[in-house]
Amino acid sequence: MSEIARTTTTANEPLIQETEDWFDERLDIGALYRKYGRKVFPVHSTFFFGEMALFAFVILVVTGGYLAFMYIPSNVDVTAGGQTVPEAYASARLIESTPVANLVRNVHHWAAHVMIASIILHMLRIFLSGTYRKPRELNWIIGLVLLILTLGAAFYGYGLPYDAFAVTATGIGYEIARSIPWVGNIVSEIAFGGTFPTLGSLSRMFALHVFVIPLLIMGVLGAHLLIIVKQKHSQPGYARRLAEPGKVLGVPFWPYQALMGVQLLLVMFGVLCLLAAFAPPHPLTAFGPPVPQTPEVKPDWYLIWVYGMLRIIPARVSFSVLGTTIEQTFIGGLVFPAIFFGLLFLVPFLDRTNRHVRGTYQYLQPLRQSATRIAVAVAALVFLATLCLAAYYDKFDLSLMEIWAIVVLAPIVCGAIAYAIVRRLAPAREFDPRSPDIPSLKSRLAAALAGSSSPAYEAARVQSWNASRIFAPDTDIAEQGDYALDNVVMSLHQLGGLAPIVRQTDDPEQLIEVLEQLERVRIGLGDWNQSLIDSIQAEEASERAAASPEPLDS
Ligand code: HEM
Repeated sequence: MSEIARTTTTANEPLIQETEDWFDERLDIGALYRKYGRKVFPVHSTFFFGEMALFAFVILVVTGGYLAFMYIPSNVDVTAGGQTVPEAYASARLIESTPVANLVRNVHHWAAHVMIASIILHMLRIFLSGTYRKPRELNWIIGLVLLILTLGAAFYGYGLPYDAFAVTATGIGYEIARSIPWVGNIVSEIAFGGTFPTLGSLSRMFALHVFVIPLLIMGVLGAHLLIIVKQKHSQPGYARRLAEPGKVLGVPFWPYQALMGVQLLLVMFGVLCLLAAFAPPHPLTAFGPPVPQTPEVKPDWYLIWVYGMLRIIPARVSFSVLGTTIEQTFIGGLVFPAIFFGLLFLVPFLDRTNRHVRGTYQYLQPLRQSATRIAVAVAALVFLATLCLAAYYDKFDLSLMEIWAIVVLAPIVCGAIAYAIVRRLAPAREFDPRSPDIPSLKSRLAAALAGSSSPAYEAARVQSWNASRIFAPDTDIAEQGDYALDNVVMSLHQLGGLAPIVRQTDDPEQLIEVLEQLERVRIGLGDWNQSLIDSIQAEEASERAAASPEPLDS
């Protein structure tokens, strides 16, 4: 068996080499590898969230491309199965009733959830570790644009099956767009192809969902990734002790990170297939084709917070100004999310540690050191959770006053508790997540060298000198040679042991000790060397003297 494997490998090797050469001569793959293949990726589990979002997007594009072959974006009525239904609904039913197509549809559905969840986790990692700070402010902003585009794509995807659920949910979005003062009609015309649902609605939504938004995501994502290549990844704190200044510690893109990426993609695809098979979305017949009476529907988890806000803003807050009405729908559905996202966009500029900072933040800040950030994140997440609750507040027998009290107070209380806990756990010595401070490293070395006249150093010097003198004078030269060799080997061992200490320590005293040991080794080796030279010269001199002819006695 192993013989066969060996034969196969050797037989294939020239072919693989020839293929590589063929491509290399035409595309200069080697240059590509030299430029990007050696790009290093830090090893930290949270760095996979961004990649998960990327792979979920790839899966969405591939599965969406498949579905587009069967889906018909038209709400013209057709007869299917003896029922008169919109053509889009009929095509979605056809997809649902074809086993493979149904699996692909369900994978597409779950991949959208996974993409949004991964983006949120990715964003939380960046927020909590403070890596949105200089020089990454631009990528924070670009990332938020990606999140908004992804939410937009998900919203339009929601409407495409065109069952009563989809039409009602999309109708809420249409009402929000239409409520924008002065320009509502134009915006809803662009976003929904006219009054929703109308003849042009589905082709407009389909084009936005399938071409416009994915292409925008691809372009913006390209910029996001290019900036990461240019600025390099931020790194976990442990890398600071081990990495060369200005270099990233981790695994190279080719082949290690690429292989891990492929594994992650395959695992994600497998999990999505399992979810698709065992936890499918609601069947289209559950709500049926659109009917004049709107069923009670709620958006999915990633948009329900907007719906929650819409529900708890009372109609009486509407008012008229300059010939237009500022409706409750506009305040809850657009003003409020705009304020929320506006604050997110401003995060790098609101963070006072990022103002007028010299140097750049290249390391993740340890969680225990970010009490304020953790408090803000907890408060924001609890706020969003209370808004999800607000979407159902009447089901929990809560009054409007009560739900408002929860929405306002719960985030403040939870944020304060989180702050108090983290402050209590905070480490005494703070880790500075900025780039390694090279001048300060130099000054530490200078301080260590200045200590070279310390008593410890002098004692080491004397000890080393004495040790080198113990055997030197009387021992025979071959024995001295053996000792010298042993000494070199021991010194090398000692030096090897010092390397990790120097890399990892940030304690000047330990550094001084290491330098003293180095000095001891250097002096020891020098002394041995000198006494060996002395002995050899003495031996040579005595040999020369023995070899020189006796002076003739005249
Ligand atoms: C489609 C959505 C997104 C995709 C596919 C994506 C992908 C990635 C990938 C693969 C990385 C490098 C690995 C890592 O640091 O995790 C990254 C880094 C980064 N992303 Fe995203 N991202 C997306 C959305 C976002 C969002 C919503 C934000 C923030 C609001 C954001 C901000 C950043 C920043 C600041 C970095 C650099 C982080 C560092 O070096 O530590 N990204 N992104």
